[in-house]
Amino acid sequence: MSKKLRSQNWFGKDGKDGFIYRAWMKNQGIPDDEFRGKPVIGICNTWSELTPCNGHFRELAESVKKGVLEAGGFPLEFPVMSLGETLIKPTAMLYRNLASMDVEESIRANPIDGVVLLCGCDKTTPSLVMGACSVDIPTLVVSGGPMLTGKFRGKNIGTSDIWRFSQELSTGKITQQDLRMAEAAMCRSDGHCAVMGTASTMACMVESLGLSLPENAAIPAADSRRKVFAQLSGQRIVEMVKEDLTLTHILTRKAFENAIMVNAAIGGSTNFVIHLLAIAGRIGVPLHIDDFDRLSNGIPLLANLQPSGEYFMEDLYYAGGLQAVMKELDRFLNKDCITVNGNTIGENLKDSSCYNRNVIETTQTPFNKTSGIIVLKGNICEDGAVIKPSAATPELMQHTGKAVVFENIEDYKLRVNDPDLEIDETCIMVLKNVGPKGYPGMAEVGNMTLPKKILDKGITDMVRISDGRMSGTGFGTVVLHVTPEAAVGGTFALLKTGDSITLDVINRTLTVALSADELAQRRASWKAPEAAANRGFVGLYVQHVQQANLGADLDFLIGQSGSIVTRDSH
Ligand code: FES
Repeated sequence: MSKKLRSQNWFGKDGKDGFIYRAWMKNQGIPDDEFRGKPVIGICNTWSELTPCNGHFRELAESVKKGVLEAGGFPLEFPVMSLGETLIKPTAMLYRNLASMDVEESIRANPIDGVVLLCGCDKTTPSLVMGACSVDIPTLVVSGGPMLTGKFRGKNIGTSDIWRFSQELSTGKITQQDLRMAEAAMCRSDGHCAVMGTASTMACMVESLGLSLPENAAIPAADSRRKVFAQLSGQRIVEMVKEDLTLTHILTRKAFENAIMVNAAIGGSTNFVIHLLAIAGRIGVPLHIDDFDRLSNGIPLLANLQPSGEYFMEDLYYAGGLQAVMKELDRFLNKDCITVNGNTIGENLKDSSCYNRNVIETTQTPFNKTSGIIVLKGNICEDGAVIKPSAATPELMQHTGKAVVFENIEDYKLRVNDPDLEIDETCIMVLKNVGPKGYPGMAEVGNMTLPKKILDKGITDMVRISDGRMSGTGFGTVVLHVTPEAAVGGTFALLKTGDSITLDVINRTLTVALSADELAQRRASWKAPEAAANRGFVGLYVQHVQQANLGADLDFLIGQSGSIVTRDSH
């Protein structure tokens, strides 16, 4: 190890300063030799009982610690803000950037030479990676792993079934009592959502970026190999510190390209777009929303996983895991990208195999030729909007319909099941003011439940458009992330019920048939909605959050401040 450890700026000092730095640590029963030049490994833990997907992270941290100690490091676990997708209101996304600030400042401010990020539930991954990128010390991600597949009345179930259950409840096919029974059956083990929702997408993202050891994404949380994986990661981060293998070395433009291609092949969440753009912004890699469409184009959907397909993350692991998917993509990927284990992506893939072609199909006979994220442009979304074609209905991919506009989520809830609402299945549902500033936090409400009178006809999909997001477990012909959002006065804000909208996914357009004069008249009378908050974090967020096509980070958080602490009060 040639470079001086940054932790020695604390623990390596003599006199009063060194005394203070070490003495208080010793009250935890730490022997003196731990402070003599061992790499200090921070274990950044998002454990919280309010984040059930990360509820097993105390144990996982213990496994990481074992590995760190085995490799001659000194592990120190610390908590950061944890974002539990299901409980946090109004939406966990409102706090992604806040949590990233906590992570960034916690790493920089403390005597840490390398850090292991324990990530699980959706936003806990991007927030931790974003924060770590702005510091840029050796960093390795350990994901918590997916839950075991839910089992209910002879069927496999997962988070995507919530939307189906909800539709069946509103049409009387199942009862409230049935739903209560399904709850326990679905979440029956430690771990995050068992489908290719946002959490699994994020776990795959870090593995394809090279930020985790191979196999990170799919090992179930309840599988003993998840603990082994954590222990091996603990060993490896100590070596990374010695090699000074920082995030900048791993997160190159080519690594981001790999992540986009892999995301297409697994049918990953649309949230991937926003989070990857934000991570790129922090590390300083130029990435544009159009890159997602361009790089996904031609990549077939290989993983037959819910919500686009049939199987679950557990099945993906038994079929060979993400490495087997990546091996299928061999000819597309940038195989020379370095990963946290010091090997290239290509070297890691070499020995992987597929053990179940029902779960991971081949590029010659893919599960679906259509994959990835398609970026739409047009007079409704000048700066872009996204759709996940593998989750959409093929017949609706080119569709013109009458807009039925809801001004905000409250308006939608009030009117969607009004028997007098003039709507049929050919209409296009439009939901405004659920974007980054408008909601605020860009809620996952884009896959609006259809009106009951349409569901009663047996119709399960319609074209839906919003400036919000959709849960990674959701599906349907749903256009999301319309930019500029309604709250900043984009053309989207000017849409009215009765307008004729055309969605043309094949030609990547989303347009409203309105003349420039009509749009100008409507713009002249448009009034910005009142700011959702003036004080506190939400006030700061509304003032500074960027649009979805840029990753919805706060403008002042873009980039890095590095790991040097310039002032010292001791
Ligand atoms: Fe935590 Fe789905 S709610 S991953």
